[in-house]
Amino acid sequence: MALGRAWSVAVSGIDGQVVEIEADIGGGLPGVKMVGLPDTALQESRDRVRAAVANSGARWPDSKVVLALSPATLPKVGSVYDAGLACAVLNAANVVPLDLLEKTILLGELALDGRLRPVRGVLPAVLAAKNHGWQKVVVPTAAMSEAALVEDIDVHGADNLADLVRWLQGDGPLDRPDGHRSPPRPVRSDLSEVVGQHEARRALEVAAAGAHHLMLTGPPGVGKTMLAQRLPGILPELSEAHALEVTAIHSVAGALSADRPLVTEPPFVAPHHTATVSSLIGGGTGMAKPGAVSRAHRGILFLDESETCE
Ligand SMILES: Nc1ncnc2c1ncn2[C@@H]1O[C@H](COP(=O)(O)OP(=O)(O)OP(=O)(O)O)[C@@H](O)[C@H]1O
Ligand SMILES: [Mg+2]
Repeated sequence: MALGRAWSVAVSGIDGQVVEIEADIGGGLPGVKMVGLPDTALQESRDRVRAAVANSGARWPDSKVVLALSPATLPKVGSVYDAGLACAVLNAANVVPLDLLEKTILLGELALDGRLRPVRGVLPAVLAAKNHGWQKVVVPTAAMSEAALVEDIDVHGADNLADLVRWLQGDGPLDRPDGHRSPPRPVRSDLSEVVGQHEARRALEVAAAGAHHLMLTGPPGVGKTMLAQRLPGILPELSEAHALEVTAIHSVAGALSADRPLVTEPPFVAPHHTATVSSLIGGGTGMAKPGAVSRAHRGILFLDESETCE
């Protein structure tokens, strides 16, 4: 067989779409051609994937390889397709069978030595895979706890391409998430530390209860910054649906920690007063990064005149 397939997910905003990766090993001078609107990072996958396959003990085909990502009209950005590209080529080369491959979404960037590196946007990608009816997903081990936040889909974590290939061949297991959910983050600053300021406290409580905007004005040193920083302490925890929504945004921003992947507290985002418009609203080329406004979704966007920290 000279045609191989694998599947991955393209994340745009916080929505994902399943991408089919095809590899064709045909006649012609050795070389790799990639089609299907790849961006620069994805164009560079050709070299990464080739080195990773060779360094994982498999042989890269000695003829022309055409890699196609579809839907062809959807722009593909980033390195998340590396694992899928490698497996599509190995499927075309008869190294891995289609049995497990065709039930699995593959996510992850490859290092030249074959290690699977974490990527941004794993949570929205796994959510999209589940919503499209996929049964299994393989992610880099470091992103496994984030992927495991999605229920009703089999999550596996791979350290490197060699382990992934063995699993696809039915020769070895991959890591599974341990199902442990991290405890909520302790609140750092507390409104009980504030002396007096009854009107301002009342204003904070009303803003917290009704999700209102709040402006604090007053002379220097009167406690405006201090009061605003204590607002998260009187907000309730996020509901499960809201927590997933916020976590998906932070996943795309690449701001999740591996040991505490689910954002359960309303985020508190305090951009510097010199922050640019694009850092506030987000965007950029490639896989757009959420700005401060999006990262403060369901939480607090604190715009101080000066002296804030993030
Ligand atoms: N009511 C208060 N209770 C306890 N500490 C207070 C109170 N008011 C002010 N402070 C202390 O004063 C410090 C300065 O307050 P803060 O920086 O919040 O003032 P500000 O109004 O933001 O000033 P600026 O306009 O200069 O930014 C606080 O960190 C806190 O230690
Ligand atoms: Mg201040």
